[in-house]
Amino acid sequence: MASTMPVFAAEGSGASLTDVDGNRYIDFATGISVMNVGHRHPRVLAAIREQADRLVHSGAPVMMPEAYIRLARRLCEITPGAFPKKALLLNSGAEAIENAIKVVRQATGRPAVISFHNAFHGRTLMSMTLTGKVAPYKQNFGPYAPEVYQVPYPYEYRRPAGMAAESLGGACVEAVRQLFKTTVSADRVAGILVEPVQGEGGFVVPPPDFLPGLRKLCTEYQIPLIADEVQTGFGRTGRMFAVEHSGIEPDLIVLAKSMGGGLPLGAVVGRSELMDATNPGGLGGTFGGNPVACAAALAVIEVLIDEKLPDRGKQLGDRALARMRGWQDRHSQVGDVRGLGAMVAMELVTDRATRDPAGTLTNEILRYCHTHGLVLLKAGLYDNVIRLLFPLTISEQELDRGLDILEEALDQIKRV
Ligand SMILES: Cc1ncc(COP(=O)(O)O)c(C=O)c1O
Repeated sequence: MASTMPVFAAEGSGASLTDVDGNRYIDFATGISVMNVGHRHPRVLAAIREQADRLVHSGAPVMMPEAYIRLARRLCEITPGAFPKKALLLNSGAEAIENAIKVVRQATGRPAVISFHNAFHGRTLMSMTLTGKVAPYKQNFGPYAPEVYQVPYPYEYRRPAGMAAESLGGACVEAVRQLFKTTVSADRVAGILVEPVQGEGGFVVPPPDFLPGLRKLCTEYQIPLIADEVQTGFGRTGRMFAVEHSGIEPDLIVLAKSMGGGLPLGAVVGRSELMDATNPGGLGGTFGGNPVACAAALAVIEVLIDEKLPDRGKQLGDRALARMRGWQDRHSQVGDVRGLGAMVAMELVTDRATRDPAGTLTNEILRYCHTHGLVLLKAGLYDNVIRLLFPLTISEQELDRGLDILEEALDQIKRV
C-alpha cells in the first residue's frame, strides 16, 4: 500500500484537510473523487447520525434494510435510461465492476468482455484484468482473467501520427468491429465496458462522436454497454452523470466513490431484463448496501440536486481551465490542458513537439504543492498528468488559492 503524501490525516472540513500536526491543506484530491459534496457536509452527517441511531447493519441477504430500497429506487430515477431499471448495492467500485460483468455474462450467456487501453476499473482480479495500464496495477499480478479483450480509447493528445482529430472517435469504434473479425466474434461478447471520461488514465475526454458510435455498435450487435461512472459520476463533469453529455443510454451504469459521501458504497444500476436474469443469491454480499452508507448516499444526491452542484462544478472547472490554459502560453512543459466540468487536468511534457512525458517534473510539482498546503494527485499512462478533483462546494477563493500554489510550483520548478 502506497500513500501519495507522507503525513497523516486528522480532520476534514469543506474543501480542506488537516494533518495530525495541525497543518492545513486545500483539498484538490477529495480522497480520489469521493468528497464531491465536501468533507463533513452537515446534511450528510445528519443523515449518517440519524441512520446510525436506528440501524447499523442487518445484512441485505438476511433482512433487507429499508434504506437500501430507498437508495436503489432513487438511483433508478436519477440515472440515464428511459426503461425499467434495477439497482444492486455493493461496497466499492471494483466490486461493482465485478458484479456488472457477472450480470451481463449471466444475462447473455456469453463469456467475453471488451474494455479499453488506458482504462482503470479497479484492483480485483476481473477489474484489474479490464484495466488498461500495466504498472503498477497489473505488473506481476497475473495470470489475468480469461476472455477480456482491449481496444484503443480515443486519446486525442496522443493519437496516432497523421490521424486527423475528427477521425479518432470513429477509428476507435471501428477497432471494435475489427476485433470482431480478428479475435472474438460479436456473438461471444457479453459486454463492452467504457469510462465516459478516462479518470486514472489522465482525464481523457473522448471526441463527441465516440460514445454515440459505441452505443450504435452495441445496439447493432445486441451487446450490453456498461458505463463505468465510478470517477465521473455524481456531478463531477458538470452533469449528474458524464454520459448525459453525449445523450447515450448505457444498459448498465457502475457507480461508487462520491455516491457514499465518504462511506464505502458501490452500485450497478441498469436494465431490469439484465439485472433480473441473475440467480437469486449469486450477487451481493454481507456488507453491500449498508444502511448507514445508503442514508449518506441519499443525502449526497439531494445535496447535489438542491445546491445545483453539477452546474457549480462546471463553473469552477471552467475557471480552472481558463487559468491553466494561460499557463500553457508561459510554460512549454504544459503540453495539454483539458477537462469536462470539474474534471480538469494538464499533461506535462519535456518537449511540445515530441510530447515526451515529463514524469520527474510532475513529481516535483506535486511535492512542491504538498509542502505548500495543496493536496494534489497525478494520473495518466505515463504518470505525467496533474488532475484536479476539488469538492464541488469549494469557494472561489479556495479554488484560486489552490491554483496559486500550483502556478507557483510551475514557476519555481523551471527545469527537470
Ligand atoms: C473509473 C474507475 N472505476 C473503478 C474504480 C475502482 O474503484 P474502487 O477503488 O472503489 O475499487 C476506480 C477507482 O479509482 C475508477 O476510477
